Amino acid sequence: MTNVTGRASAPGKVILAGEHFAVHGVPALALPFTGACTTVSVAPAPPETVTLTAALSENDHARALTVVEAALTRLALPRAWTVSVDSTIPVGFGLGSSAAFAVALVRALLMAAGLSATPEDVREHAHALERLFHGSPSGLDDSVVAYETPIAFRRGEAPERLVPGAHFRFVLGAVGYAGSTMEAVASVRRRAEADPPWFSKLKDSAGSAVSQARTALESGDAHALGRALDDSHGLLQEIGVSTPELDSLVVAARDAGALGAKLTGAGWGGFMMALVTPNRHAGVRDALSKAGATLVLELDVGPVPENRRGSDGSK
Ligand code: MEV
Repeated sequence: MTNVTGRASAPGKVILAGEHFAVHGVPALALPFTGACTTVSVAPAPPETVTLTAALSENDHARALTVVEAALTRLALPRAWTVSVDSTIPVGFGLGSSAAFAVALVRALLMAAGLSATPEDVREHAHALERLFHGSPSGLDDSVVAYETPIAFRRGEAPERLVPGAHFRFVLGAVGYAGSTMEAVASVRRRAEADPPWFSKLKDSAGSAVSQARTALESGDAHALGRALDDSHGLLQEIGVSTPELDSLVVAARDAGALGAKLTGAGWGGFMMALVTPNRHAGVRDALSKAGATLVLELDVGPVPENRRGSDGSK
């Protein structure tokens, strides 16, 4: 493509603990997933021309175009752009494809317009765009993708950057189908409204699992983190967002020696994640493939230098 005037990338994400409950005000923890990313390039086009090139289904393409139009309105830019998207993040697999698109788009347009922005500005814009994809998202996905560091999140509050106390390695296994975040969130809401005391108890348990996971992450306690992942998966099963295939991968990972495992993201498809030690890592990968994982990925997180800079150049 010639005459590119803005180009930016954003990573995917995984949710370590608290997904779904985050929509209802419980804290959550998330990590950027740098093993996959979305890159958006924008170039000037004739007036009243907005085109989008992206490898998406017809429906997803139409929604993404709506998001581009909304981004232009938010950023007060003219409707005169060619937008190209290149992404390695599978859509609907819980790895934050829509948040990565929103963040990369905002960054690319700001760059093309010669405007600078903090990660918090980018997050706010991306959150407004995420609403077009998911209805009423908590903001967890856009926060971790815009900040590009591990975060603790609570709906309506600015995210808190976390520094892991040790290196942790996760193996992620996908089932062969995607899940709709909007539908899974709506289903949990219906269940919560049908039985408020039941859901309130689960929210308390989710809050405890998140708090244990946070302490374990920050203190570098892999065994405690593994237990918190297991607890989180149990809660996600109770609210009905796991599937037999996700459960089988979780069990296969645990049987192969993972310290803990859970589905990650909205569920009803997509990925599970397992925390592994170096000597169990290959065995867990192997067990996931044998149990039917259609894709196996890895994520390493660890302490990051204080002066790490975001890809938009700001701290
Ligand atoms: C989706 O990645 C995370 C959910 O908690 C939805 C949200 O927080 O908006 C399921």
